[in-house]
Amino acid sequence: MNDQPRPDAVTLRPPTPADGAAVHRIVVDSGVLDVNSVYAYVLWFDRFAHSSVVVDSPEGLLGFVTGFVDPSAPDTWFCWQVGVAEAGRGQGLATRMLQDCLARSGATWLETTITPSNTASRALFHGLARRHDAGVTHPGAFPGTLLASLVDASDSAGHETEELFRIGPFQRNA
Ligand SMILES: CC(C)(COP(=O)(O)OP(=O)(O)OC[C@H]1O[C@@H](n2cnc3c(N)ncnc32)[C@H](O)[C@@H]1OP(=O)(O)O)[C@@H](O)C(=O)NCCC(=O)NCCS
Repeated sequence: MNDQPRPDAVTLRPPTPADGAAVHRIVVDSGVLDVNSVYAYVLWFDRFAHSSVVVDSPEGLLGFVTGFVDPSAPDTWFCWQVGVAEAGRGQGLATRMLQDCLARSGATWLETTITPSNTASRALFHGLARRHDAGVTHPGAFPGTLLASLVDASDSAGHETEELFRIGPFQRNA
């Protein structure tokens, strides 16, 4: 039996603060994404709904993207986190969410950071670039030493480097 939702049963829509707890659940369950507080997602969806998206289904929320238009470069949409629940993976939902955010933001460049070990995320963004015939450069990084917690002893080994991906240019109606 296929437990995946039918593609025509899912809806992409701007998030609302009421989505914060369900998105926090997806982040925790991913086991990969940095876990922010529920309040961080509630606040994000209150203030950055226009540059973020969720995927809804009759069974509940399946995925989300948090992002913002760079205040110092309005042609650039920055993707902070993207997550799809196990039940929704492998159907192009993450790609559709990124395309939706890009189109609504009006941006022609996408930036994000990805750790070297996150194969799925690297494949996602390279796939998006390929679909839109866009280039990929790596003009910087947040080194792992910058990302280590000063209060959580279990995090003393630090965090992987977050490598900057700059992708584009996208057509304005991408
Ligand atoms: C990364 C993630 C968002 C992908 O979601 P998804 O909806 O399954 O992605 P898509 O179906 O749009 O796939 C996009 C591309 O990535 C590839 N891909 C997806 N998961 C993959 C995996 N585990 N390994 C290798 N490639 C993968 C797909 O084959 C596809 O490639 P294509 O463009 O060449 O066809 C999802 O696996 C996830 O939530 N992972 C945990 C959280 C995470 O790592 N988020 C990203 C960091 S912010």
